[in-house]
Amino acid sequence: MGTPTVTFIAGNWKMHTDRDEAKSLATSLGEQLQSEGSSPADRSSRVEVGLFPPYPFLCDVGEIAERFGFRLGAQDMYFEPVGAFTGEVSGAMLASTGCRYVILGHSERRHVLGETDEIVARKVRAALASGLAPVICVGETIEQREAGNTEDVLRTQIESAVDGLSENDFEKVTVAYEPVWAIGTGHTATPDQASDAHAFLRTRLADRFGADAASACRILYGGSVKPDNAKTLLAQDEIQGALVGGASLQAASFADIVRAALAVHTS
Ligand code: PGA
Repeated sequence: MGTPTVTFIAGNWKMHTDRDEAKSLATSLGEQLQSEGSSPADRSSRVEVGLFPPYPFLCDVGEIAERFGFRLGAQDMYFEPVGAFTGEVSGAMLASTGCRYVILGHSERRHVLGETDEIVARKVRAALASGLAPVICVGETIEQREAGNTEDVLRTQIESAVDGLSENDFEKVTVAYEPVWAIGTGHTATPDQASDAHAFLRTRLADRFGADAASACRILYGGSVKPDNAKTLLAQDEIQGALVGGASLQAASFADIVRAALAVHTS
């Protein structure tokens, strides 16, 4: 295994868009990127684009994603495979809609909806058992950073999330470092802050899975990634992609972030 070479740009739409808006956002993104002349296959060999729409629009967006060579993912799932869990969605259901990825442990799930490290860990194992590739989110709050606890928080979150995984499982894992204080706030981590956190996470993963496996794991940065800061962040060796919230809701700005990733990849 070597260092991953395909950058991952993932658009987390959160609880935004209605059905028509979801379809037109995906279509418009596809058309904007296509008009530049690079084929989906050429683009995907350098930058993988993932769309994470709300559950009800997965099938519609999935058809469009397939046409333009984008990957489909969901924003969450439940850890049980089937049963009386009103309102929940299983990994197998998501896989049957064409999802390849699922975001797990997003800070809004942890801090707004009360998800614990243990729940996130169960979801990671259930995702892999359903054939989905988890995008595991970790990140500290501003209070934790100011108290000097960033590394402790990251260590606890990542070690818990990958507990019990084999090296084979780990090959399918993507990690997203998303400092809570940077999400939706317009305050981006500096390239140094992000690189330090990524390097720390990679070291923890190397301790657990070995240096080769850890260096092959894509670690994305998330938190107020915009067209004007994407290139600087993505130029850091330690950053293999971005998890984008607000700026993924406009086709033009998300396309610009994909272009920034393509430019970094070829420079
Ligand atoms: P943001 O969200 O880009 O709006 O900060 C990122 C995320 O929550 O994944």
